Amino acid sequence: MIIAIDGPSGAGKSTVAKAVAKKLGFSCLDTGAMYRAVAWRALQDGVPFDDDAALGQLARMHDIAFGHEPGDPAPKSVSIGGEDVTRAIRTAEIDRAVSPVSAAPSVREALVGQQRRIGRAGDYVVEGRDIGTVVFPEAEVKVFLTASDEERAHRRVRQNADRSIGSIDFDEVLADLRRRDEHDSSRATSPLKPADDAVRLDSTGRYIEDVIDEIVELARERAAR
Ligand code: DC
Repeated sequence: MIIAIDGPSGAGKSTVAKAVAKKLGFSCLDTGAMYRAVAWRALQDGVPFDDDAALGQLARMHDIAFGHEPGDPAPKSVSIGGEDVTRAIRTAEIDRAVSPVSAAPSVREALVGQQRRIGRAGDYVVEGRDIGTVVFPEAEVKVFLTASDEERAHRRVRQNADRSIGSIDFDEVLADLRRRDEHDSSRATSPLKPADDAVRLDSTGRYIEDVIDEIVELARERAAR
């Protein structure tokens, strides 16, 4: 079974995806981390963000791998071309670089292929922006998870403080998040939008456990059909 969880950044996708996977005994795939890894490699190699062909080649050349610990569905590490980038892909520099890199059609083509291969290998909760619309349009459960801009910015600030990386200035984080939303939603290839058959969940002011339970319930209902 595939459970697709799409939505803007900071809506709680990662937390929810990991918890749902754990409750159901599924694996978890963070597709945003894959775009971040390619953006990191592009920065290292000095590949211009408007060079679609070069970015696509880079995405095809370097394998992205997730490291797992037994019993935990959420990956502990991410690497590209054998280099561990777990922390390096969470910086403000990558936050900015990943929007243009993820808008490159050749990059999307390469990564969507990899995502399909990974997801089809078992039961997966897959989180991203285009999972229910493009990567797995046949997913058994599709959720579009949102939250207010302010709540998303608050969460991101807390997350950055916990990880000791990225900005902890609320206004800066809010502005950055809105800029990325605008970019992700207006790009020509696979823009962020809910699939027609997605269940829309707004996590603003809700206990995250409630949202997790609701998705687990959707999956159980679907499995029982
Ligand atoms: O979920 P995230 O913030 O780690 O995603 C990083 C960037 O990658 C974000 O700007 C949107 C983009 N992305 C995408 O275009 N398609 C996906 N399936 C996942 C992420």
